Amino acid sequence: MARIRNINDFRKAKQEKRPISMVTCYEYQFARIIRETEIDSILVGDSMGNAVQGHPTTIPVTLEQIIYHTEIVRRGAPDLFIVADLPFMSYHVSLEDTMRNCGRLMKETGANAVKLEGGRDFVKTVGSLVKASIPVMGHLGLTPQSVHKLGGYSIQGREEEKRKIMLEDAKMLQEAGAFALVLEMVPESLATEISSMLEIPTIGIGAGRHCDGQVLVITDLLGLDDSFNPKFLKKYANLHRTVKKALKTYHEEVTSGAFPAEENVFK
Ligand code: KIV
Repeated sequence: MARIRNINDFRKAKQEKRPISMVTCYEYQFARIIRETEIDSILVGDSMGNAVQGHPTTIPVTLEQIIYHTEIVRRGAPDLFIVADLPFMSYHVSLEDTMRNCGRLMKETGANAVKLEGGRDFVKTVGSLVKASIPVMGHLGLTPQSVHKLGGYSIQGREEEKRKIMLEDAKMLQEAGAFALVLEMVPESLATEISSMLEIPTIGIGAGRHCDGQVLVITDLLGLDDSFNPKFLKKYANLHRTVKKALKTYHEEVTSGAFPAEENVFK
């Protein structure tokens, strides 16, 4: 199967047992590079709160910021499937407010879908969005916007009761019309059970090997932050080291007079 182009392809990938690759992105240049790969889809995640803005949580991220970054990413990846994350409090106040916010996201950014965090409490919201032709990706397990309620960034669904609730929530989100479901920081056995129970694909992050796809935060997988090393993360590059070395060399060459050199000069 070729790269994913629409929500039907998500289901098709699952049926064909072809794992789905997803990565977050927040800016134009990285979007251009992603487009040159075969990565299936992009999430403009509210993880920008941590990864780009330097906040300890995703809570300060605003709808305006998600719109701004999604629009930039769309410019770098005009033909990729882009999911725009709904930030904290953009879908909690009222259905009317939610519809207006999601309408703006879809109209102003060219996103293909939105993602929201939560289970049964948001089933009605998901149903209304889908009815309004806005595809929705769900998100269960560790839902970072609820960090204060959860009491930290810990694995979710270890206890039997919570496991049962997550299984039910996953089913409800599928029935409400979600086209895919992110599972974050969930024991592998639970993620496997949810994945085999659902017809829609699960996209895991810290949810083990048997989800239907995987998502990672781009700055994490590229190793930009040398102090962030959770167990679930694999770093595919060490940009922290590469960028630091380049900047040190630049400084040395400016101060020593080695840069600009003959080839950098206009005659
Ligand atoms: O905001 C985000 O990047 C996310 C992923 C971690 C799934 O929600």
